[in-house]
Amino acid sequence: MAKNFSLPRGATDILPQDIPLWIHIEKTARQILNLYGYQEIRTPLFEETELFARSMGQTSDVVQKQMLTLQPSKSPENEKAESAHYALRPEGTASVVRSYIENHLDKKESLSKLFYIGPMFRGERPQKGRLRQFHQIGVEAIGPGTASPYLDAEVIACSMYLLKSLGVSGAQLKINTLGTYANKEEFKNILRGKLSGKLSELCWDCQNRFERNVLRILDCKVPACKMAVQKLKLNYEWLDAESKTYFDTMKKILSGLNVIYNEDPYLVRGLDYYTHTVFEISDSSLGSQDAVGAGGRYNNLITELGGPQVDAIGFALGIERIILAQQGKIQVPQPSLDIFVIAMEEKFIKNAFALVQQIRHNGLSADASYEGSSMKSQMRQANKRNARYVMILGEDEIKANEVALKNMQNGDQEKVSLNLINETIQKLK
Ligand code: HAM
Repeated sequence: MAKNFSLPRGATDILPQDIPLWIHIEKTARQILNLYGYQEIRTPLFEETELFARSMGQTSDVVQKQMLTLQPSKSPENEKAESAHYALRPEGTASVVRSYIENHLDKKESLSKLFYIGPMFRGERPQKGRLRQFHQIGVEAIGPGTASPYLDAEVIACSMYLLKSLGVSGAQLKINTLGTYANKEEFKNILRGKLSGKLSELCWDCQNRFERNVLRILDCKVPACKMAVQKLKLNYEWLDAESKTYFDTMKKILSGLNVIYNEDPYLVRGLDYYTHTVFEISDSSLGSQDAVGAGGRYNNLITELGGPQVDAIGFALGIERIILAQQGKIQVPQPSLDIFVIAMEEKFIKNAFALVQQIRHNGLSADASYEGSSMKSQMRQANKRNARYVMILGEDEIKANEVALKNMQNGDQEKVSLNLINETIQKLK
């Protein structure tokens, strides 16, 4: 019996009419990232689950609740694969760092500026702007001695410029610093100290987070937790002098680039690998899932994954959220067909078939209908395909070794010799 299959929950089909917009976004991103000195990297869509757990943190929401793990079917070939546990990538940073280390990219250049565009997977409860398969444009700048506030400012400015170029001009930027790894630990201790008498005021999730992941309490959306957090009066008391200066310098450079930001000491991000600068970009038009992008520094991650002592910073923007936030500002024309070839009678289909091949091989797009339908119906198809020209093959044309060429914009029609067809095609380009 036939069965109807439907789209998996939280995934989307990107249909042909939406593809021009996606291509435009990807092309614009590639152009801008090239201007900023980034080169594309493509890593697999799955990795060892442990890579993600180690980098994003065992206690992060993504690792605890959202990993989509893969189970190879049982077979002798898969015996080896089964001993490793794989998961679809929930983000790009961990994979890029794994590849950076494995391919010894630190030996190739002092600073590797890498970008990726592709699908990511998180088993979240789907809602508007929150998907299980979504797409990111991400960058990672990794290299020894790259902990310069200029690079932090450049990376943030690049993310804002990308968004603006993609029609998202009203996005709000929030920045913060977590300081060094030691500062961050101190931050956690301070928070535990301040919250210890107030646990009963917090939601059940946050009571659990208190020991495991206390920083996450700062961005809990539950009103009672928000209230408790607002009373904490955080003022960077966990930062050492050097980290403070780094952050202050970074802010000055950012202002010098005319990037408008809000400083938010409560911004901590959900992934464990961050140190120093963190940032988040939101767009109020998006509703509850308002983050269009986010990023930050992760100077410790590369060594934690067994790599050399190098610093790193990056960000990722969500493409689906960019599309929602640009609210139709990007107008991309649907592609048009150059030439639609019409066979007036069924016996001329073979001539139309040869002609479309010839046109394509001369560099123009072409198509024909092989159904043997009426002239009217074929003209309708040409119009639907947005054809710039139509070439008609009828009895008279075939006899005279000609084709009738119709300009669909102004209606002009002329006869063209098939002996001169290549020259004609060149003129239509
Ligand atoms: P993230 O904040 O988890 O950071 O994700 C970045 C962006 O991906 C979000 O701001 C959002 O636009 C989009 N996004 C995330 N989850 C979903 C979802 N379920 N549905 C739709 N869009 C989503 C990272 O992924 C880090 N790797 C960023 C980074 C790179 N940090 C340093 N380098």
